[in-house]
Amino acid sequence: MTDPDRLIIFDTTLRDGEQSPGASMTVSEKCRIAEMLDQMKVDVIEAGFAISSDGDFEAVREIAKICRHSVVCSLARAHDADIDRAAEALVPAERKRIHTFISTSPLHMRVKLQMEPDEVLERVVASVTRARRHTDDVEWSCEDGSRSEHDFLMRCIEAAITAGATTINIPDTVGYAHPEEFADLIRMIRNRVPNIDRAVISVHCHNDLGLAVANSLRAIEAGARQIECTVNGIGERAGNAALEEIVMAVRTRQDRLPHALGLDTRHIMSLSRQVSASTGFAVQPNKAIVGKNAFAHESGIHQDGMLKDAETYEIMRPEDIGLSRSTLVMGKLSGRHAFRKKLEELGYDIGDNALNDAFVRFKALADKKKEVFDDDIVALVDDQIAAADQHVKFVSLEVRCGSEIKPRASLALDVDGERRATEAEGDGPVDATFKAIRALVPHDAKLLLFQINAVTEGTDAQAVVTVRLEENGTAVAGMSADTDTLVASARAYLGALNKLLVKRDRTAPHALSA
Ligand code: KIV
Ligand code: ZN
Repeated sequence: MTDPDRLIIFDTTLRDGEQSPGASMTVSEKCRIAEMLDQMKVDVIEAGFAISSDGDFEAVREIAKICRHSVVCSLARAHDADIDRAAEALVPAERKRIHTFISTSPLHMRVKLQMEPDEVLERVVASVTRARRHTDDVEWSCEDGSRSEHDFLMRCIEAAITAGATTINIPDTVGYAHPEEFADLIRMIRNRVPNIDRAVISVHCHNDLGLAVANSLRAIEAGARQIECTVNGIGERAGNAALEEIVMAVRTRQDRLPHALGLDTRHIMSLSRQVSASTGFAVQPNKAIVGKNAFAHESGIHQDGMLKDAETYEIMRPEDIGLSRSTLVMGKLSGRHAFRKKLEELGYDIGDNALNDAFVRFKALADKKKEVFDDDIVALVDDQIAAADQHVKFVSLEVRCGSEIKPRASLALDVDGERRATEAEGDGPVDATFKAIRALVPHDAKLLLFQINAVTEGTDAQAVVTVRLEENGTAVAGMSADTDTLVASARAYLGALNKLLVKRDRTAPHALSA
């Protein structure tokens, strides 16, 4: 990279983002997100923590195979085995980075590591040295950096750079920093670490006090040139700095943040939708940049101003994040060509077969609903993408219920090509449906969440259902949309169950016949 003021965007949706409780993703979902990040030209993708599980190792390796633009990175603690495992997973990558970390705050060193500062310092040198044997691109992080003692932190940073670290990342691990204080820390590092000009300063901010983006932006003003962030701001506890907010703030406020970015912001909206669909974490309507209302103008005064000149109330153009202004409402007379164009506008790039399937489902939906809105199409296509590689597929559902009868569900599923059908009674229609699924695919997963929202307005609106299941400490989510709430519920449950089966498959290959 030649421009020293260019900002490096380091996406950790697939590593720190996945650490959000319940956000667990399958390898194929992670690959889909990595492919989109790579197309967006994000600079670095942290694909996982290779040693933490076979699933993470596989995800890092598969992502390493597919990325053409982004550097692919794996996290590693300051242990030889971690670093070697990260390197092994990264073998197929065209451009790779090992990110090694150790805690440097007094509290973490005493309680978590039970190590003296000098031992930690030795580990810093040993871990970076080992990582450099595998790649020239090594990032070192001081976990809980913002609560570390300054003199010790400066020594660690200097030693990491001397050992070969090319990026020094300062995490605000617990989201405690204040923007001005965090900027002072970055300035101190630039002033006091003698070899700092040999490394890029990075920041990694958590959002416990709602300051992750503010802290990251102040750090840029103080000299940081890499920002670590996640799509939709997902991550441990209150999450990480949101990629879309950082990127659009830099792009919109070039007067204050005159830095070039290498990525194409028009992919933001489709990435946000994909991350939401894969994790089952809905985006709040008023979320900056990607919330449903972020570009909606409800009041008459605002609408009037917008009609005269969009800049009266809009500081960004929706097109810049991949949202179309098109008012093209689809209906049952809309043809394949218009449908394809609509999908392109919405940021979907799906093959011909998938497009044909989506068109058939769109026609069926248009038969039930007078007008099909963008959000309906997004829900329909996301549903189809999620169902593509499922072992257990929905076939049909009939439910009888009412005030005078015991609810009863007749359900048919396709389990790895075998048709299975059953009937079950329950306390309500949803309970009967879920009991029927359990009868056909026995499992012990606990239902953590069952949530219904309407995709659009009106009684003919599609219901989008989210189901979160947990088994042996792994929580996964499934989402589905349909004009029939019970069908959407069954599909959402199956979406989550399929993810659990994929995860279970790794340790128990015959899980499906259980
Ligand atoms: O929050 C943190 O400290 C981290 C490090 C591993 C970078 O995620
Ligand atoms: Zn973190």
